[in-house]
Amino acid sequence: MKAALIGCGAIASRWVRSLLADGRIEIAALADPDQQAARALADRYELTPAFATTLDEALALAQVDVVVNLTPPDHHYRVSREALAHGLHVLTEKPLALNLPDALDLVHLARERGLLLAVMQNRGADPGFLAFRDTVRLGGRPPFAVAADALVTLPGPGFRRSQHLPVTTDLAVHAFDQVRTLITAPPTEVTCTETPTGFLASHSSIATITVRFADGSLFTYRGGYIFDSLLRTDANGNWWVEARGFAARWASNPADRHKTTEAEPPAYQRRITAMVDALHQPGIVPVPAAGNLGSIALLDAALQSAASRRSVPVPEVPDVRS
Ligand SMILES: NC(=O)c1ccc[n+]([C@@H]2O[C@H](COP(=O)([O-])OP(=O)(O)OC[C@H]3O[C@@H](n4cnc5c(N)ncnc54)[C@H](O)[C@@H]3O)[C@@H](O)[C@H]2O)c1
Repeated sequence: MKAALIGCGAIASRWVRSLLADGRIEIAALADPDQQAARALADRYELTPAFATTLDEALALAQVDVVVNLTPPDHHYRVSREALAHGLHVLTEKPLALNLPDALDLVHLARERGLLLAVMQNRGADPGFLAFRDTVRLGGRPPFAVAADALVTLPGPGFRRSQHLPVTTDLAVHAFDQVRTLITAPPTEVTCTETPTGFLASHSSIATITVRFADGSLFTYRGGYIFDSLLRTDANGNWWVEARGFAARWASNPADRHKTTEAEPPAYQRRITAMVDALHQPGIVPVPAAGNLGSIALLDAALQSAASRRSVPVPEVPDVRS
């Protein structure tokens, strides 16, 4: 199969490395309005793709089966929709879309057209975090009080410098994937604020998010892009869970971060391999992104809450299995 990669910024290297390691997908086109970024990516990995500035241009230059959407979050819906409307499978970086109606529209369109739609959820699928989830499920009984801090330093801010509410749209969505594995009751209400903290770094911003759940559980999150400091965490964050007679905490071990082997590749690479497996699955094409709609419902409510400065009910995710 052949792919067009749309967006050639920081995360594109990770995807190219993973797709090259997998070997089943040929990178036939690279599209980015920043042609220097596209050409630098091709040079780094000795690729010989067609170069384009937009998805449309890429599709005119190369025949592809799948679009890999690596654009900034506020472009995700439009790029993924255009690709699906062209009859192409879509693998996209998170978030699937910025609101639930757009995400549902993509899921419905993929279903209708019999196309794969898969979204990256590497933090919610981190093996260390899943082991922590198992500890919580075995040892604790809901309701839970869960807290997480993700204070992240970036080598370069990229799109985040101009993205509205960058922490909520880009970073908190990892935490939404993660907390949904810990607390399985439906979320009911979100309160979110995000405040630029330009005195730390030009793109710095800090968000606080509180989520209430139907079983009484509570999640409090503090996420931020910060100047490099002792407080920094990785994007997995540091987590605490308390329940009656139970407490547990988790932080990914920095020593393990780069300790990946061929037998145990990093979570994002395993997610990409699973997506490529699904592309090659005969019969009904799955829409794994449907399983991520719960995170987009939380994101939708968080963005509305930040804009309105009040608590917002979490929109109900309709049953999209049939
Ligand atoms: N899963 C993870 O752990 C993880 C980590 C980092 C980033 N991401 C996600 O990856 C995506 C990209 O992030 P990044 O860090 O690479 O950002 P970046 O700013 O470094 O790169 C984005 C690139 O997209 C290009 N672009 C913008 N609009 C475009 C369009 N319409 N068509 C084609 N290209 C366009 C920009 O010119 C830029 O080169 C974001 O959605 C982000 O949330 C995920």
